Amino acid sequence: MEYTFRILRFDPQTDESPYFQNFLFETDLNKSILEALMTIRNEQDGSLSFRYSCREAICGSCAMVINGRFDLACRTEIQSLNSPQIVIEPLPNMEIQKDLVVDMDPFWKALHAIKPYVQSNGDIPENGYRIEDREIDKIFQYVNCILCGSCYSACPVVSRNEDYLGPAALAKLLRFVKDPRDKRLFADYAGVSTKDGVWGCHTIFKCNEACPKDVRPADGIEALRRKMVVEKVKSLFRINR
Ligand code: F3S
Ligand code: FES
Repeated sequence: MEYTFRILRFDPQTDESPYFQNFLFETDLNKSILEALMTIRNEQDGSLSFRYSCREAICGSCAMVINGRFDLACRTEIQSLNSPQIVIEPLPNMEIQKDLVVDMDPFWKALHAIKPYVQSNGDIPENGYRIEDREIDKIFQYVNCILCGSCYSACPVVSRNEDYLGPAALAKLLRFVKDPRDKRLFADYAGVSTKDGVWGCHTIFKCNEACPKDVRPADGIEALRRKMVVEKVKSLFRINR
């Protein structure tokens, strides 16, 4: 079977604007998009640039737009697309560094802003933590996030407001707020109660659609908003007593 890979190319050093280039790729096997890209790069154009690492849908490096859908190139099988033409584009909302490689600095900056690690108070139980299943259930989907950047790229608010923290960072914040080992106080993350934080989301839900691991970042943002309202009401109640 012969496939036409229509790949968006751009080298900011030499090209005035991005353009599509076609490559023919033949296979009778059910290869992944990543395998096809590697073959094209190895046999047709060594300058074709894209990211990958684990090849097992774990590291998140190979997220891209494949026939209009956000997905991981390493887990997308060519035959599953049911099309002889396959259009490959880099993640939007981030500057193209070369071809399918984008500058993810704004994404990482937003993630670092929420301090994405367990903040214990140092009081660690001698035999380790025991966490109830129902506690794990509350954070499980957000733990599954592999930080591929698809939700951030899909969010229309990010495209208009580069200061918006975006769905991945906000959902990750909820993951730690709900983690029983994490002892951060509300005051430590109340700073995201802004138009660039939880109130910046316009509930467009593109983030939920884009996630290749079925995380629903919008649910996390909604839960954080509820928390903000509850804490605000509590603080008013304390003031008026
Ligand atoms: Fe963006 Fe998702 Fe909100 S797409 S607007 S973060 S629901
Ligand atoms: Fe790691 Fe695809 S190469 S997720």
